Amino acid sequence: MSRVRVGVLISGRGSNMEVLIAAARDPAYPAEIALVVSNRPDAPGLDKATAAGIPTLAVDQKAFPGDREGHERTIDWALREAGVELVALAGYMRLLSPFLVRAWAGRMVNIHPSLLPEFPGTNSHAEVLAAGRDKSGCTVHLVTEGMDEGPIIAQAEVPVLSTDTETSLAARVLEQEHRLYPRVIADLAREIAAERVS
Ligand code: GRF
Repeated sequence: MSRVRVGVLISGRGSNMEVLIAAARDPAYPAEIALVVSNRPDAPGLDKATAAGIPTLAVDQKAFPGDREGHERTIDWALREAGVELVALAGYMRLLSPFLVRAWAGRMVNIHPSLLPEFPGTNSHAEVLAAGRDKSGCTVHLVTEGMDEGPIIAQAEVPVLSTDTETSLAARVLEQEHRLYPRVIADLAREIAAERVS
């Protein structure tokens, strides 16, 4: 059976994208990375994907001033052209409009560096430290219209140490992200493949 085609959306360094690309190098992995899209043409992850032989596309949000939906319609078109069946947000740092969320309902996931529903948003590690929590972690969830709010699919925990800085905590969490995301994408790909035949 053909592998499930995954589109990865990034904005930056793309380390989660890299581990997905690495996992998919194994022909037994149930998903393949069909396309990497960035909303920022200067995202370092784009070069990493190209070096790995993965098709990339930059859809510069600056080319769509005041038109978030137009930007997303272009991304949506590219994903469909590439035959994508599952979208993985991997450090995509732009709030999505209802258009793209609805277009990919149930087929778009995100990874977030906290134990949601606690500490959504872009400042999770600092907030975890400020709150004095003794554990943190990462969450993979379905994307819905509220930021970091969709149904949780899986989480991994890490301890928070008294010596932690934002940097050390982020690194510990990222290690878990890199284990969790390929596992969840594989599970979802198996489900999608099973739906294809039923
Ligand atoms: C990760 O911490 C992810 O959880 C968050 O943004 C960061 C992206 O890192 N959504 P990378 O670009 O995958 O290295």
